[in-house]
Amino acid sequence: MSLVRTNLAILGLQWGDEGKGKVVDLLSPHFHQVVRFQGGNNAGHTVVVDGQSIALHQVPSGALHPGCFLVVGNGVVLNLEVFQQELDRLRTRGFDLAGRLMLSDRAHLILPHHIALDLWREGGANKIGTTGRGIGPAYEMKAGRMGVRLGDLLHPETLADRIRPGYEEVRLRLGAGAELPSLETVVEDLLRIADPLLPFIGDSQSHLVAAWERGDRILFEGAQATLLDIDHGTYPFVTSSNCSLGGLFTGTGLPPKALDKILGIAKAYTTRVGSGPFPAEMHDATGERLRQVGREFGTTTGRPRRCGWFDAPITAHACRTNGVDGLAIMKLDVLDGLDEVGLIVGYRTGEGTITTELPSCAADWKGLQPEVKYFKGWASTRGITKHGELPAEAHAYLEALVESVEVPIAYLSTGPDRQEGCVYPGTFLEPLLG
Ligand code: IMP
Repeated sequence: MSLVRTNLAILGLQWGDEGKGKVVDLLSPHFHQVVRFQGGNNAGHTVVVDGQSIALHQVPSGALHPGCFLVVGNGVVLNLEVFQQELDRLRTRGFDLAGRLMLSDRAHLILPHHIALDLWREGGANKIGTTGRGIGPAYEMKAGRMGVRLGDLLHPETLADRIRPGYEEVRLRLGAGAELPSLETVVEDLLRIADPLLPFIGDSQSHLVAAWERGDRILFEGAQATLLDIDHGTYPFVTSSNCSLGGLFTGTGLPPKALDKILGIAKAYTTRVGSGPFPAEMHDATGERLRQVGREFGTTTGRPRRCGWFDAPITAHACRTNGVDGLAIMKLDVLDGLDEVGLIVGYRTGEGTITTELPSCAADWKGLQPEVKYFKGWASTRGITKHGELPAEAHAYLEALVESVEVPIAYLSTGPDRQEGCVYPGTFLEPLLG
């Protein structure tokens, strides 16, 4: 296989917020196509232009590289108002996406009543800490055959009929007193917001198949992460899409043989935002230190993230689920200056045995206590660009991490800036970034 044609997937291996944006931003200049295939504006990452940051939620991260064509695949759910705002923000900074963006005609729309339903549920006892962006209801409508696709916008005469069934279900659920815009208003607003975006709507599957056949390099940008995957995550405390590898194929219409390599992204520690199982969570000063030093507050909602040591069993599960070829370990420098650094190698059960198996049921996580192995800390890794220059203690920690997840490291991030990181020699990333 020629490395020149490597098509690469970037997938999160924890509960999201691993730093996928930095990796996609580093890699994008080497690819012709950058593709989102699932999720919506629950995702968020910040790109820095001339010292100023732009928050992107739905626009693929290759936006800042004029040579990249950006594709929003059929597996994505889109809030067009938010999408337009992102395009406007990019345009005012000099990044016009005209001629290099395609939105799948099969991608589904997030509509105002989806957001209302999401927020209504989150106000009740069964809340799961969603981002409140209407993601779950939009995917429910899709599975329930009541979804509205971008292609439907090209048929304004039947749009109200497409929206009505889902709208009426939400109305029934929320009751007559709910503050919902009328169906007519939903349709009118949608047509107005969609108008400037209509030229971008197209058959993204045919576009991608043609790109693959002519040998374009394609970068697939995962959103969220395996532990938030609707099937392979900590159900029901998950998002509503397949964030792991399977979602890439259903979310683009490309076959598995179109993909060459899988880069799994994990932080050197673990975080999670929202409710649900998180055995690594530390409620002490060390947890707080990770949050402050790592600036662990949500890009999308600003919520403080729950923090803990690197959890090897969950990351190993994610590596298996995705067939990961190499790891990108992010934010190692956040662990700088600690006396000791922990690595969760298993969980102690109520019976006192140690397991590395992940329960399928949220209730079964409750009794599990993390089994932590401690390593001597180090002074600083900040800005190191060659892994041979890492302190011996950091080496020892990373070696144990690799041994526990059984996947080699391809990239190590040692700071927020682009140049702060090491590409490991001999890995599939070296020809691109080395
Ligand atoms: P939803 O995707 O808004 O339905 O939220 C479901 C769960 O996924 C909640 O726990 C969210 O906090 C979490 N979640 C969704 N998107 C992200 C993300 O991009 N990063 C981290 N957590 C996320």
